[in-house]
Amino acid sequence: MVFAADNRCVARLFPLKSASFFNNLGQLFVSAQETALKPVNIGICGIGTVGGGTVDVLCRNAVEIAARSGRDVKILQLGSRRPPKCDIGDAIVSSDIFDVAVNPDIDILVELIGGTTTARDLVMKAIANGKHVVTANKALIAEYGNEIFAAAAKHGVTVAFEAAVAGGIPIIKALREGLSGNRIEWLAGIINGTGNFILTEMDDRERGFAEVLAEAQELGYAEADPTFDVEGIDAAHKLVILTALAFGVPLQFDKVYTEGITKIELRDIKFARELGYRIKHLGIARRHGDRLEMRVHPTLIPQERLIANVNGVMNAVLVQGDAVGPTLYCGAGAGGEATASAVVADIIDLVRTLDATPEQRVPPLAHFGEPDAGREFIGIAEVVCAHYLRMTVLDETGVLTKISQILANAGISIEAVIQKEARRGEKTVPLVLITNEVADRTITDAVVQIEATAMVEGSVMRIRVEELAG
Ligand code: HSE
Repeated sequence: MVFAADNRCVARLFPLKSASFFNNLGQLFVSAQETALKPVNIGICGIGTVGGGTVDVLCRNAVEIAARSGRDVKILQLGSRRPPKCDIGDAIVSSDIFDVAVNPDIDILVELIGGTTTARDLVMKAIANGKHVVTANKALIAEYGNEIFAAAAKHGVTVAFEAAVAGGIPIIKALREGLSGNRIEWLAGIINGTGNFILTEMDDRERGFAEVLAEAQELGYAEADPTFDVEGIDAAHKLVILTALAFGVPLQFDKVYTEGITKIELRDIKFARELGYRIKHLGIARRHGDRLEMRVHPTLIPQERLIANVNGVMNAVLVQGDAVGPTLYCGAGAGGEATASAVVADIIDLVRTLDATPEQRVPPLAHFGEPDAGREFIGIAEVVCAHYLRMTVLDETGVLTKISQILANAGISIEAVIQKEARRGEKTVPLVLITNEVADRTITDAVVQIEATAMVEGSVMRIRVEELAG
């Protein structure tokens, strides 16, 4: 840390070589420059995986951060019940995180404690005390974002949340700024690193679910409650945020259909491969006229799609804009420094706009159209897509005919089929089908009928299939 010789955790501005140039321009310019040199004080609450990563990145990349921010960024205070493991320089450590929210010297509070109870109180307190907020907390934004942004607008501060979705991928910035000239038609993303890590390890190495999940926890990818990862809740939080940004609608966590990956078996991954697909856990949001669909579930994707080859803890978001067409954003979706990358980017953005009026800043969530527009979502029963069906059937004549008949009666056609020979001594065989695109309720009804026949053992495994073509 050449530029932090006094060992403070301070991002240093380059020496102001051009001071005399500015002096020649007169007092007003010099004063403005002097104001810009005042360091910005930040307080970080929560020094776990992401908090520690944020401190490390701020210190290590101090020179770049100062140059890009236009002024010094100083970590003045940390809120943490446990002593931080990282080097914190001369920052004050407060065991009561609320001390950070009320400290008059703090300009930006960085919330990295997670959860929605204390975090919500902390963020609201910081806003009420006139502090800008940076958060990585997807649950907080998805569930309480509408209230938080309203409070922020009232107090003239900004709440930034790049790190809340897809870890280090700057997808919030892409949607808010890079794609802002587009009408977004749909987006689909692998937005839970833990889930993708588990599916990839099962696929590549045939490892067991529990073993891989434990490794994801050790690596700091998984949520404090890992059921949020494997049951799809974490991905649902992120999808709600992406949907609000992409379609200009309020955050509506209660509208997202959610399925996790716990029912996916190794044999489904293998059958999917045989049929030319990969199984990924996707969050999908799509516009249908004035209505939207918003769903999270395991999905078969053609294996030639780039997104089907995004593996391990990597996340990817595929966005279809009307002007640009498809664009894919890919990178590490979890982990300390990857997420810190997004946290620090928000800090720099905020420092850059500290002197702007609230109206001059890019709004966190722009609502397109009437206040009530975009509140109507298509229920999962109406969603149309192809389906993968796997069932265990008796190895007898006429079984395939019977099942085809049930599907045909429902107007469902079979696009692909795998049926293996029975192993010696076994009376049942697996039967795998891919259907054409039909409404979810049609498949649901057909599956009920199939399960009711004496020829099928146990329940039918069904996974949605998406082509993800522009
Ligand atoms: N548990 C989350 C994941 C962390 O695995 O994606 C990043 O949000």
